Amino acid sequence: MLPFVAVITFLFSGIVHAAVTWTAMPFNPASVPLAVRSPYLSAWLPQGSGTALNAAWPTFWTGSIVGWAGFVRVDGTTYTFLGLPATNNSTPTQKAVQKSFQFTSTQSIFVLTAGPVDITVTFLSPVEPDDLVQQSLPFSYLSVSASPNDGSPHSVQVYSDISAEWITGDNSLTATWNTTVGDIITHQVQLQTQTVFGEKNDHIQQGSAFYSTQNSTGATFQSGADIDVRSQFVSRGSLPNTQDTDFRAVQDRFPVFGLAHDLGTIASPSSPVVFSVGHVRDPAIQYIIANGALQERSVFFWTQFSTVQDAISSFLGSYNDALTRAKAFDDKVNNDASAISSDYASIVALSIRQAFGATEITVSKGSNGSFNTSDVLMFMKEISSDGNVNTVDVIFPAWPLFLYTNPTLGKDLLLPLFEYQATGQYPNKWSVHDMGASYPKALGHNDGKDEPMPVEESGNMLIMTLSYTQRSNDKSLITTYFNLLDQWTQFLITDSLIPANQISTDDFAGSLANQTNLAIKGIIGIQAMAGIAALVGDTARQSNYSSIASSYVSQWQQFATASGGKHLTLSYGDDASWGLAYNLYTDKLLGTNIFPSSVFDMQTTWYGSVANNFGVPLDTRHTYTKSDWEIWTAALVTSTSVRDLLISSVRKYAADGSSSQPLGDWYETTDGSVEGFRARPVVGGHLALLALSESSAIGEQTPGDSSQTSAGNLTSQGMRSSYGTSLMTIMCFLSLLRTFRVVFV
Ligand SMILES: *[C@@H]1O[C@H](CO)[C@@H](O)[C@H](O)[C@H]1NC(C)=O
Ligand SMILES: *[C@@H]1O[C@H](CO)[C@@H](O)[C@H](O)[C@H]1NC(C)=O
Ligand SMILES: *[C@@H]1O[C@H](CO)[C@@H](O)[C@H](O)[C@H]1NC(C)=O
Ligand SMILES: *[C@@H]1O[C@H](CO)[C@@H](O)[C@H](O)[C@H]1NC(C)=O
Ligand SMILES: *[C@@H]1O[C@H](CO)[C@@H](O)[C@H](O)[C@H]1NC(C)=O
Ligand SMILES: *[C@@H]1O[C@H](CO)[C@@H](O)[C@H](O)[C@H]1NC(C)=O
Ligand SMILES: *[C@@H]1O[C@H](CO)[C@@H](O)[C@H](O)[C@H]1NC(C)=O
Ligand SMILES: *[C@@H]1O[C@H](CO)[C@@H](O)[C@H](O)[C@H]1NC(C)=O
Repeated sequence: MLPFVAVITFLFSGIVHAAVTWTAMPFNPASVPLAVRSPYLSAWLPQGSGTALNAAWPTFWTGSIVGWAGFVRVDGTTYTFLGLPATNNSTPTQKAVQKSFQFTSTQSIFVLTAGPVDITVTFLSPVEPDDLVQQSLPFSYLSVSASPNDGSPHSVQVYSDISAEWITGDNSLTATWNTTVGDIITHQVQLQTQTVFGEKNDHIQQGSAFYSTQNSTGATFQSGADIDVRSQFVSRGSLPNTQDTDFRAVQDRFPVFGLAHDLGTIASPSSPVVFSVGHVRDPAIQYIIANGALQERSVFFWTQFSTVQDAISSFLGSYNDALTRAKAFDDKVNNDASAISSDYASIVALSIRQAFGATEITVSKGSNGSFNTSDVLMFMKEISSDGNVNTVDVIFPAWPLFLYTNPTLGKDLLLPLFEYQATGQYPNKWSVHDMGASYPKALGHNDGKDEPMPVEESGNMLIMTLSYTQRSNDKSLITTYFNLLDQWTQFLITDSLIPANQISTDDFAGSLANQTNLAIKGIIGIQAMAGIAALVGDTARQSNYSSIASSYVSQWQQFATASGGKHLTLSYGDDASWGLAYNLYTDKLLGTNIFPSSVFDMQTTWYGSVANNFGVPLDTRHTYTKSDWEIWTAALVTSTSVRDLLISSVRKYAADGSSSQPLGDWYETTDGSVEGFRARPVVGGHLALLALSESSAIGEQTPGDSSQTSAGNLTSQGMRSSYGTSLMTIMCFLSLLRTFRVVFV
């Protein structure tokens, strides 16, 4: 229990957590992203209600330790700034004192005091949505700069190491390693016996970890037992440039891979010492193609670099540019999200690395052995709920992230699902649930026994496909896969108004017949296909599906409204039940606008009246909720105060320090405690409000081009051809209307 005064401080300032002595901007999350770039490069500081950077070991997203240590030595006294490194008795160390912590969309920045010197420790995990090479590089930066805090010059050395825990989920296995010295000093470490595409405890048992730094003046290295290497630095301020060749188990006298820099005597802020940490494997993904053949795919950066050394040289050498780009990205996201609220901006900033960190961009080799850069596929690991590959109902909640940052990445995520189902190997008439049970094996489900979510996934595919096409004006998905899209629509026509007993994406909540929210998705899916048909000039289908969807909406309204008319039910006829009808968000996102605004108003009022301490429950079966659906709902409600109530609830949960795991999307609304999920990419859904505002911005750029105009009839902003008004006028009107609804009602 926190003391009363501390609770007040926490609730009202929201900046200084009662249990911590440093300032935090915007807040202390349960776990801080440190190096989060792929499903296998995922290091976090488990912070809980207040753990300094040097008060815990960094952990993999699962919670297992990934050894990552840091010392700064000032005038002969060594201070720990990262991890819990032990040294021997003759080499005592002190702890630097954490003064501040800040996170942005790409960076986690700590300032610590080490006696007469302050150090700034920046963890930068780049997010580069427009550059497939940069985005796919599985590396992350740690930079350290030092500055005297007493106006006097001081002698400063900086040290950091990683252990072999970065390469396996089983520390009893034997590691091998070596060190390469040139312009860059690189330690490489891997399992002696690897399993291609094999995981253990969610770590990949293939490939190597790399720890590198520039070989500038005064750079030294050592590999060896943790105590030896660390004690060496503490006593000398440098390393002996020696390698341990006694290959052994990860946990046997823990081999660590140390790098040190001597900054000399500094009288003013030093330039940063930069380290890069990475995990590389090749091939990366196993992928089913026609006739059950399996293709091996490589991470995209290989198209640009022939060796890992080249990739590391480029990555380390361009730190300043990467930081400039990262700051520009952070600023754009922060400005856009702050237009909603500062609470919202903080949730978004915490979510972006996590969501991208579940993905990898890949490329195949053509028959001549060189990379085919026309064949780009993105893969996503579901993470923690299970290890499924490209789960449709995990891509779907995350979808706003891709719409906002680069819709083409969304297409690259959908493509494996389309390509696989277009081979005819998947036997069901609805959309497949995922591309494979266990990442990184995208082997499909030729037996048709994937987790069945027929309405959920069929609706999701249709909605995401139209939304991609609207934002990109690229019709390749809808022309190439028209038949599949139509097949799923036919299924929705039979099963979405009266959905059979089945699960939705919220499978943990159980299955149910006649789910109101699932029906919404199915009906919008049908209308999405009307929009798709319009875009390819199939006006017969367009009007048929459009009229089916409208007639379903009227019938649905009868089935789904609780008697008394106060709210929608969770399932038809169960008047006391209700739930987050978050699928209505996509009616706004697509601009289909087939559900009456009265439904949005009714739900808004209702949610405003049923919120618990940490938000509105997912539905009446339980008191837990999902942060992604909470924010989707914030994006659809018609009142600013209810919107802000939902946003601030998620923010409060994310900052409550009641766990120390990477942001979990499933949590308890009564007390803000986390349920089973963590580190999932679905937090990309926290960008739901940004994806909406981006839609008006993008829509307004399109008038004039006739192909885009015809897309606009049904798509860009929900206009109908029968309105007969010019595209421009309708767009302006609708975007004004949206602004009005969001800001003033
Ligand atoms: C280090 O080990 C890796 C993996 O065995 C190997 O590919 C590489 O050539 C080695 N480098 C040096 C400099 O020995
Ligand atoms: C760094 O490079 C120089 C030559 O460029 C070399 O003499 C020195 O030994 C290298 N540093 C290390 C730690 O090997
Ligand atoms: C402690 O480590 C230092 C540096 O490696 C070494 O010189 C010294 O012998 C070690 N002392 C003990 C007691 O192991
Ligand atoms: C090899 O195939 C790729 C396409 O996969 C093509 O772009 C490239 O030009 C080909 N290279 C040679 C040498 O034929
Ligand atoms: C390259 O990939 C594209 C897209 O998948 C494909 O259409 C083309 O046939 C491929 N080219 C080769 C040479 O394999
Ligand atoms: C589903 O709802 C329809 C329409 O209200 C009703 O006819 C049907 O019995 C319901 N099915 C179940 C299983 O409750
Ligand atoms: C789109 O709107 C234009 C102008 O209102 C109309 O001529 C055209 O037929 C419409 N296209 C579709 C596919 O509805
Ligand atoms: C409309 O679509 C449904 C479902 O595919 C089909 O059964 C019906 O015949 C279509 N109606 C027309 C007029 O094309």
